[in-house]
Amino acid sequence: MKYVVANWKMNLSVRESIALVRSILRSVQGRKHFPGIVICPSATALAEAHKLVTRTHLALGAQNAGPDRAGAFTGEIGIAQLEDLGCQYAILGHSERRLKFGEDDAVVHDRLTAVLASNLTPILCVGEPMEVRQAEQAEEYVLRQLKQAFANQKLPRGKSFMVAYEPVWAIGSGQPASPEQIVAMHKLIREYLLHELKLPTDHCFVLYGGSVAAKNAYQFLREPEIDGLLVGGASIKANEFAQIIGAACDVIEAQASV
Ligand code: PGA
Repeated sequence: MKYVVANWKMNLSVRESIALVRSILRSVQGRKHFPGIVICPSATALAEAHKLVTRTHLALGAQNAGPDRAGAFTGEIGIAQLEDLGCQYAILGHSERRLKFGEDDAVVHDRLTAVLASNLTPILCVGEPMEVRQAEQAEEYVLRQLKQAFANQKLPRGKSFMVAYEPVWAIGSGQPASPEQIVAMHKLIREYLLHELKLPTDHCFVLYGGSVAAKNAYQFLREPEIDGLLVGGASIKANEFAQIIGAACDVIEAQASV
């Protein structure tokens, strides 16, 4: 199974969001094989997006999730509210949350705790800054982020777990990591999920994010180690995103025919 997750970030009006959902739905029409597609609009558009994706191939995700189901957390969106809006996924620990809003590993841990106790599937983001990669410490850094997020968590059976490897330097820079860099990191992440956390293989998905575009999606998706892509900037451009989904369909079709 391959996944394409769209992170629209703080973009698009409700009307624009509706138009984009419709265009994504059109882009998979007539395809026999397609990836799991998760769209993560701004919270303002979740309700309208939900109406459009119900009984379709698209699933809905939130860009973050409150540290509890409900309660005194001004400005946050609670897990129960996200479920109510039809969300099935939640991005957690995105580097923009970590760097621009001071969400440290402890905050990410608590959000993950709340998501693990809900019906939502977490999409936990990890990834190193450039100076850490240059110092050849990317693997230790990512492993530490994973360990902090998963420390003492209850891991419900039957739940899916997604980890998105998003090197900070690749996000929005037009400079994606190379397939070799990604595959090496994905192996490490998967090893942690399967052997340290003892999660079942078919419930773990390791995605890549950072300057994914129509021109590079296929080369990432064809790697067996890359279960999918988390797409930011390119996901709010209808044509570009349709091509990324098309690349995923092509990879899945090619795999189905061997
Ligand atoms: P980008 O963002 O595709 O624009 O690099 C990815 C992300 O932030 O999830």
